[in-house]
Amino acid sequence: MKRFLFLQQWLYVGVIALCLSVIGVGIARYVAMDSATASSDQEGYYFVSSQYNDITSRFSNTSNTQMDSIVEYPETPYPKINETVAKTIDTYHTDFLEAVNQNATSTNHFMENISYQVYFSNDTHLSLAIHAIYASRDDEAFSGSSTEFWTFDKRTGEVVSLADLLGNSTDGRERLFISLRDATKRELERRKIAVTDEELKDSINAETVPSFAILNKKELLFPLGRANEGSSSSDDVEIKLQIDTLQLFLQNDTARSILDVVPIQQPAQPEQPALPSTSTGPGGYCNTQKCIALTFDDGPSIHTNRLLDILKNAKARATFFVLGQNVEKHAAILKRENVEKHEIGNHSWDHPQFTKLNHAAILSQLQRTDAIIQETISKRPSFVRPPYGAFDSNVIASLSSAGHSSILWSVDTRDWADRNASIICNRAVTGASSGGIIIMHDVHATTVDAVPCILKRLAADNYVFVTVSELIGTTKPGQTYYRAR
Ligand code: NI
Repeated sequence: MKRFLFLQQWLYVGVIALCLSVIGVGIARYVAMDSATASSDQEGYYFVSSQYNDITSRFSNTSNTQMDSIVEYPETPYPKINETVAKTIDTYHTDFLEAVNQNATSTNHFMENISYQVYFSNDTHLSLAIHAIYASRDDEAFSGSSTEFWTFDKRTGEVVSLADLLGNSTDGRERLFISLRDATKRELERRKIAVTDEELKDSINAETVPSFAILNKKELLFPLGRANEGSSSSDDVEIKLQIDTLQLFLQNDTARSILDVVPIQQPAQPEQPALPSTSTGPGGYCNTQKCIALTFDDGPSIHTNRLLDILKNAKARATFFVLGQNVEKHAAILKRENVEKHEIGNHSWDHPQFTKLNHAAILSQLQRTDAIIQETISKRPSFVRPPYGAFDSNVIASLSSAGHSSILWSVDTRDWADRNASIICNRAVTGASSGGIIIMHDVHATTVDAVPCILKRLAADNYVFVTVSELIGTTKPGQTYYRAR
């Protein structure tokens, strides 16, 4: 794909190097890359609140023997903005179709997933990004991802360029690019990905970064890209820049309408400030029915009882991946989940990223949680959903030695990022397929709000809601599953 973002190559190499023996790579490729987070971890994310109020999604999906393509277009009240974004999305999609066509005679299978994300929206401006992920079953080189982002002026529908924001002198932009390259280098070094200054210059310049995203009145965001082969949401490379080092260049109406600009009365000084540094349940039930597993992570929480009422009403079963520390707080809710025939999985004691723990620490997380579940409902879970969907060969070995398999997901509602019931419902319904596993979190009220819509629309499409074990049968310790085969 010719439009892949520059960062992709580094990330690709880096992530492959880091995850040389990741068992889940083949699986993760087909799984949406966003990962879940417990409510307690949200400070680490840039998603402060949902900005989607007046934006809806339009999906264009294709599924056949050659490919699975999911394309999500944002529909804002501003036709010109829609047109600009759709044009870019269509270019990606056309490239994808062309590549698939060129392989028409092969038995390979191709995957495309284009989605968008809104970072900022107020009366006058809108910042959003599109993420495109590609994979193929037989051709590693086809895999990749790309990100493009814009800030729009809602009044004109035009893209706000960096030149608009930083005044027309190239000084402001160069200064910003230097900060951006600096921050990117630090971030890649942190991930042990080597990059030269020359590569950074080639990658981060006025051509490759024409616009920006607004994070808030004091910070700009550059969502430069995401890794395509990783299994953790932390693979996104997003650089935040404080505007305080750019004040000198922000003395214009555009910048003032968006950011917290400190007025400088004098015209810009010539002297620049210094740079800052399966599907066979028992009896084969799912062989004759369209089955799907709804899964809810991070609970039990204060919202779970309401969810259980909704599920009970619809006679739907679900699977709950619980945190040991929350079982301690809400034992009665876990008991209710069990009594009402839902399934319980282990999601660790307090949601650490397993890839950052040693074997003993992972075992302790698993066993402590198994123990409190056993103590509460007299059943021991047989599988785990690793926090953030993050795992490597060491994590898998630890899971295996604790007698657990690992359950990921085939449909990511990103309900932790977008606290908007209709978006969550749309993502669940559009991504659904027989044998699929949908990830949600019963720690958000908006997720529970979305469930009646999901149940209604999928039931209308003849889906039956089953537990993970009913969907995929008995799982094997040390194996990773993301849907029924
Ligand atoms: Ni989680």
